Amino acid sequence: MNKCLIRHASELVTCRGKAPRRGGEMNDAGIIKDGAVLMCDDKIEAVGTTSQVEAGINLEECQIIEAQGRTVLPGFVDSHTHFIFGGFRADEFAWRMKGDSYMSIMERGGGINATVTATRQASQEELAALGRERLDAMLEFGVTTVEGKSGYGLDCETELRQLRAMKQLNETHPIDIVPTFLGPHSVLPEYKGRQREFLDKQITEVLPLVKAENLAEFADIFCEDNVFSVEDSRYYLNRAKEMGFKLKLHADEMVPLGGAELAAEVGAVSADHLLQASDEGIRRMAEKGVISTLLPATAFCLKEPFARGRKMIDEGCAVAIASDLNPGSCFTNSIPLLIALGCIYMQLSIEEVITALTINGAAAVGRADTVGSLEPGKKADAVILKYPSIQYLPYHTGINLVQTVLKNGKVVYQK
Ligand code: NIG
Ligand code: FE
Repeated sequence: MNKCLIRHASELVTCRGKAPRRGGEMNDAGIIKDGAVLMCDDKIEAVGTTSQVEAGINLEECQIIEAQGRTVLPGFVDSHTHFIFGGFRADEFAWRMKGDSYMSIMERGGGINATVTATRQASQEELAALGRERLDAMLEFGVTTVEGKSGYGLDCETELRQLRAMKQLNETHPIDIVPTFLGPHSVLPEYKGRQREFLDKQITEVLPLVKAENLAEFADIFCEDNVFSVEDSRYYLNRAKEMGFKLKLHADEMVPLGGAELAAEVGAVSADHLLQASDEGIRRMAEKGVISTLLPATAFCLKEPFARGRKMIDEGCAVAIASDLNPGSCFTNSIPLLIALGCIYMQLSIEEVITALTINGAAAVGRADTVGSLEPGKKADAVILKYPSIQYLPYHTGINLVQTVLKNGKVVYQK
């Protein structure tokens, strides 16, 4: 048995208790001063003040990490990414900076479809190698659980290849990966105006294979003007639900289509983006307990208005924050950037942002029972920051303060 004690943390941020946290509950990050966490092999055994945790244990049996002057947090959960892809789209970023729009580039055949072309050319090994580099970069920011989507194949073979690359990485990389099927991510020219036919193909040909190989837990769709309508999305999501998938959707990103309302109607675990979510959509997400997953780095990179995170929390929603790492709208996995945008531009407190990046992120990927907080029985996933308080995270803007990352009780990153 391997015991590891992290003690005398100036702030031990537990995020323990209720999951997901909604509304006013999000401001409670469960902070313990002079805190300690005892890990036994890959699980957390005890959490409390240093004197409480030390009381019942033989210190000689423990590896000890002194955390005076430092902050200890649960490992971050990046609950929305597209980290498996081939090729890059730096040209599109430059065009957008000159005034081009994301959707007009997509309509001209660029955007997601450009990445589809590049991803179709990559082997599973190549995709896994690219994915591994990206996971390594996430780990340095303290991310220990990540959601990853397919959606750059659109055909059966490539969608499965993306998901298999994630499965391979989940088995060999310290970060836990929660896979999502996003076959309906874009419409290829040959399916323009025949979206329903494309969806039927995904439902009858691809999803059964995904299920048979257990390659995805969630099904997702890009519900957007000129991509998949609310009616098409409802149709697909209900079929996916019948097949046993949990649901997510890219909702109300560019146009207020009613994606948030649809998420509530179909019982989605989360609705993501939500830049244009209506008042009614926000009310329904709160009522039905749909997690509002906000991706502020995407709004930032697209120069779009930020989602109304403050209002969502005030209306009682459970908000998660994630990177949306992808080669088009948002090529960043920077947790410090998300924290800065959440605090500075979305008027969230740092406690709310931390809740959104930990326990609510875990709930958004169906893992709130195993990760997202420091409490006995959960996975021993923790992050140690260089400074004594989470207040330093937005204040030392854009800087990675992570010194140490533990995954399953082992140090996997040390600055
Ligand atoms: O979440 N909006 C749709 N999908 C992604 C972007 C994917 C891409 O541009 O490659 C998103 O922003
Ligand atoms: Fe996305």
